[in-house]
Amino acid sequence: LVIVVDYGAQYAQLIARRVREAGVYSEIMPHTASVEQITARSPKAIILSGGPASVYAPGAPGLDPAMLTNGTPVFGICYGFMAMAQALGGTVAHTGMREYGRTPVTVKAPGVLLNGLPGELSSWMSHGDEVTAAPEGFLVNATSPRATVAAFEHPDRKLAGVQWHPEVLHSEHGQQVLERFLIDIAGCRQTWTMANIVEEQVERIRSEVGDKQVLCALSGGVDSMVAAALVQRAIGDQLTCVFVDGGLLRAGEVEQVERDFVAHTKTDLKVVDAQDQFLSELAGVTDPEAKRKIIGREYIRCFEAAAREVVASAESDSGHTVEFLVQGTLYPDVVESGGGEGAANIKSHHNVGGLPDDLQFRLIEPLRTLFKDEVRKVGEQLGLPPEMVWRHPFPGPGLAIRIVGEVTRERLDLLRQADLITREETTAAGLDRDIWQFPVVLLADVRSVGVQGDGRSYGHPIVLRPVSSEDAMTADWSRLPYEVLEKISTRITNEVAEVNRVVLDITSKPPGTIEWE
Ligand code: XMP
Repeated sequence: LVIVVDYGAQYAQLIARRVREAGVYSEIMPHTASVEQITARSPKAIILSGGPASVYAPGAPGLDPAMLTNGTPVFGICYGFMAMAQALGGTVAHTGMREYGRTPVTVKAPGVLLNGLPGELSSWMSHGDEVTAAPEGFLVNATSPRATVAAFEHPDRKLAGVQWHPEVLHSEHGQQVLERFLIDIAGCRQTWTMANIVEEQVERIRSEVGDKQVLCALSGGVDSMVAAALVQRAIGDQLTCVFVDGGLLRAGEVEQVERDFVAHTKTDLKVVDAQDQFLSELAGVTDPEAKRKIIGREYIRCFEAAAREVVASAESDSGHTVEFLVQGTLYPDVVESGGGEGAANIKSHHNVGGLPDDLQFRLIEPLRTLFKDEVRKVGEQLGLPPEMVWRHPFPGPGLAIRIVGEVTRERLDLLRQADLITREETTAAGLDRDIWQFPVVLLADVRSVGVQGDGRSYGHPIVLRPVSSEDAMTADWSRLPYEVLEKISTRITNEVAEVNRVVLDITSKPPGTIEWE
C-alpha cells in the first residue's frame, strides 16, 4: 500500500492512479490525517501531492517532520516537494516568480530517481515558490529555469521529490520517475493486477454473503455490469439483477443488456418495462433538476416494487432472505464523498439510494477501491465483451436530460435515431476509444429555417457534443475529423424527420458541463 497524502490539489487522484498503473496499490488520505493515522495503515511508501498554496501562505497545510524520519519512504511532488525541503532544513524562497505549464528540466545528476532518463525533460510545472537549497546530504538531480533545485533525493533515507508533476501526461517520462521512486527507492513490489483483484473480491464476497440472496440494480453502464459480473462469479445464481427501462435509454440498450450481459454471465435478469409510468410523470416538465428528481423517484419506486417481488419469491422458493444489494460505487465517489471540501453541487446525480426503511439491505460494493480504467480491465478479466466494457458513460436520467425542453415519446424517438447514427459513424471511423463520451442533444424548443427538397423546412437542431476527458471532472471538445462530422450531419438531416440542422459544441468543461442539462 502506498498512501497519497492529498494537499488539496486536483492531482491526488491522478497520482494514485499512476501508482496503480505501476502495479502498486494506493489510497488517498487527506493532509489533515496525523502521522500516526497514516503509519497505522503500514504504508510501504508515502507520496505528498501538489497543492494550491504557497508554503508561506497563512494557514498553509503543514508537514510533520516525523513523517520524514520514521523510516517510511517519502516522495514529494510540487507542494509536497517544497514542504519536504522546508521540513528537512532546506531553503524555499518566496520569489514571486512563477513557472506554469510546459517547462524544460535539465538533469544534473541522475542518481537513482532519474536513472536512465534523457538529460532534458519536458515537464509540467505549476509553482510560485522555489527550492533554492536542498536539505543537507541530499543530491540535487535536476534544475529548471526558475527552480535551482527541481529534484532531489537521499536514497539511504529513502526520501526524494520533484518540483514538477510527473503524474500528468504532459510530463515526459513521468511514469518512469514515479516507478524509480516506488521500486528502486521504496522497494515496492508490483503485485496489483486485475487478476488478483478478481480473485480477492470473489473470495471476499463469498465469505460475506454465505448462502444469502443478493440483488443488483443494473443501469446498463459499465460499473453496474462489472460489479454484477463480479458478484455472479462469486455466488452464481444467488444473484438476481433488476433492470428498469424508463424509456430514456438509447437504441438497442435493453436488448444488449438482455442478450449480451445474460449470455456472458448467466445472471438471472428481471427487466421492468416502466416507459409509460416515466413518460407520464415527465409530461410538461422542462426544468433539468425537476426531471432528475422525478426520474430518481420513479426509478426507486420501480426498483422497490421489483425488489419486493424478488424478496417474496426467494423466501417462498428456498426460504432464503435477500439481504444484500450490489452497488457499482467507484473509488473517486468514495474519495469525493469523504474528502468533502465543499465541492459545489453542480448537478444532483442520482444513484440507487434512499430505499425505504422496511427494505433494508447491506451493501456490497466490489468496485469501491477501483478507478474507472481499472473497472474496465476487471470487466475484460471477467470475459465481458469489449462493446460492454468500453461503453461510454451514460447519465442515469438518460436521454431525458439530452432533450432541452419537454420529454415526449416522439422526441425521444427522434433523439434515439440521431444518437444511433452518430454512434454508427464514430464506431465505423474507429473513434470510440478516443472519445470519452458523445452526448447528442435535441433542442426541442428551438426551430430554425432550412431548405429541404424543394421547400422550406422549419425544424429542430441537433447538437453534437463529443468530449475527451479522463474523469469527467474536466473535459475538452474532441477534434473529430471533418469527414466524420460531415457524414453524421448528412445522415441525421436526411434520415431524421424534423431535424434540419446539426451543430457542433466546441466548449470545454469548465465552463460548459458535458451534458446540456
Ligand atoms: P456534467 O454534465 O456535469 O457531467 O459535466 C459529468 C458526468 O456525469 C454524467 N451526468 C450524470 N450521471 N446522473 C448521472 O448518473 C446525472 O444526473 C448526471 N448528470 C451528468 C455525465 O454524463 C458525465 O459523464
